[in-house]
Amino acid sequence: MSTLLQINASIHADQGQSSRLASRFVEAFRRHHADSRIVVRDLASEAVPHLNAERFAAFVSKPHERSAAQSDVLAYSDTLIAELKQADVIVLGLPMYNFGVPSQLKAYFDHIARAGETFRYTASGPVGLLTGKRGYIFAARGGLYAGTSLDTQTTYVRDFLRFVGIDDIEFIYAEGLAISPESKASGLAKAEAQIERLAA
Ligand SMILES: Cc1cc2nc3c(=O)[nH]c(=O)nc-3n(C[C@H](O)[C@H](O)[C@H](O)COP(=O)(O)O)c2cc1C
Repeated sequence: MSTLLQINASIHADQGQSSRLASRFVEAFRRHHADSRIVVRDLASEAVPHLNAERFAAFVSKPHERSAAQSDVLAYSDTLIAELKQADVIVLGLPMYNFGVPSQLKAYFDHIARAGETFRYTASGPVGLLTGKRGYIFAARGGLYAGTSLDTQTTYVRDFLRFVGIDDIEFIYAEGLAISPESKASGLAKAEAQIERLAA
């Protein structure tokens, strides 16, 4: 039985275009893999707090030095990481907001990047520990950026996921959603057309 983790990063929760595409993929995946377990983490419905010095101090604290508040921060981060560790397939709904990733996703990334848990330092550099997973990223944008230098989102998300060991990933783009109704329809259709093949 495989486990699929769907992460929605849209401020519109499951109504965002990126979340809807991710959900369409999950439906198709479920059809092809009837015994799969689906877990949904919606970053709008349950926001991850921004990382601050106090929370980061909890990450690097020694067990015997931890306050109750720091233990809570660690337990929360552990829960997010455990969800990832248990997942064989990760599906991310990724909107572009103001040329970058949603701050909700950045906060989530900041809570799952933990030395010794999701990556470790070695003499030859950092090594990701979340290996053996496949990722599908549904990127929704108002404009057209894929393949251009303005698309810093793709490199950032790819680099971050690779850093924690998730390097087998595919981006599916739904672009031009704010240009015109026709452009929106064709942008969504192009992304949807890939779903069945990818989920099989
Ligand atoms: C606050 C905000 C900022 C946005 N900034 C951009 C942007 O920089 N570039 C772009 O192409 N589209 C931008 N858009 C359009 C979104 O990328 C588009 O609406 C997309 O569908 C968002 O994904 P979602 O529907 O899953 O939330 C922005 C939308 C919002 C609400």
